[in-house]
Amino acid sequence: MPAFTASAPGKIILFGEHAVVYGQPAIALPIPQVQAKVIIIPDILGNPGSVRILAPEINLDSQLDALKPNHPLVAAINGVTATLGVTHIPACTLKLTSTIPVAAGLGSGAAVSVAIIRALSAFLGTPLDDVQVNKLAYNVEKIHHGTPSGIDNTVVTYSKPVYFMRQQPIEIFNIAKPFTLIIADTGIASPTALAVSELRKAWQKKSTHFERLFSAVGSLTRTARQAMEIGHPERLGPLMNENHELLIEMGVSSPELDRLVLAAQASGSLGAKLSGGGRGGNMIALTEPDHTESISHALHQAGAINTIIVEQGARDLS
Ligand code: PMV
Repeated sequence: MPAFTASAPGKIILFGEHAVVYGQPAIALPIPQVQAKVIIIPDILGNPGSVRILAPEINLDSQLDALKPNHPLVAAINGVTATLGVTHIPACTLKLTSTIPVAAGLGSGAAVSVAIIRALSAFLGTPLDDVQVNKLAYNVEKIHHGTPSGIDNTVVTYSKPVYFMRQQPIEIFNIAKPFTLIIADTGIASPTALAVSELRKAWQKKSTHFERLFSAVGSLTRTARQAMEIGHPERLGPLMNENHELLIEMGVSSPELDRLVLAAQASGSLGAKLSGGGRGGNMIALTEPDHTESISHALHQAGAINTIIVEQGARDLS
């Protein structure tokens, strides 16, 4: 029996994080430079149901049934078996590796879920389609995020630029002219669930104030989509700066993120903002291709532990 593999990309949120939880649109882009990969190796001599889970990066080497039912890996696996009506998984080893930093706003949890769901459903003989994969990955996101909007699992499942609104059909859009982004990591792990739940408490106390911030973000997001679709990506820069200011007002930035955003702006970036849950994790800066090196250098000087340069819209990402 052959091994079954699947991978899924990381992602960034270009505009609209947090506001998307409250019904505003957000834009997310896949980042194939970082990936989660799953390989399932059948164990032909093992007993049915004997599933070994290996995830070296998180020091996990365990039998599936020894893990708690609300463990995200277990939730992803159980989602597949429940959907396919499988009671015993044939004996196997499921090995998970990932180059996506954890709790950094790059969609690590969603990518792991999507890769597991795809590899396991193929291993069980019925590869699930994107709609089903997305739905199951969303259920796992609820463990990670509490009240997720669904944007992470969607962009990771479809691996295309996504314009996303809760409860609305998924809109995949076209980037008419390529542009370059630098992703810089503060090195500070920041669970999204915490930022999301604290913002919710603040919103409950001052809903009018926060609704105003969310709707301002929504307008920026709509303008940004249009700029990308008509081939004016340079217009994203000022919109990113404005979005970052609004995220500061929401209380989801941090001194480290602000320092990186300022460093990018001061070293020739067209615009910069935090990306994802905030409070740590990653920020993104829009740059002319000629300036990537100097801006990356400035970001490292300002405390970034890693930078990734990505070109968006340069080729079909399918
Ligand atoms: O997973 P992250 O850190 O990129 O954050 C997801 C974006 C949020 O809007 C903060 C939460 C959500 O569920 O949409």
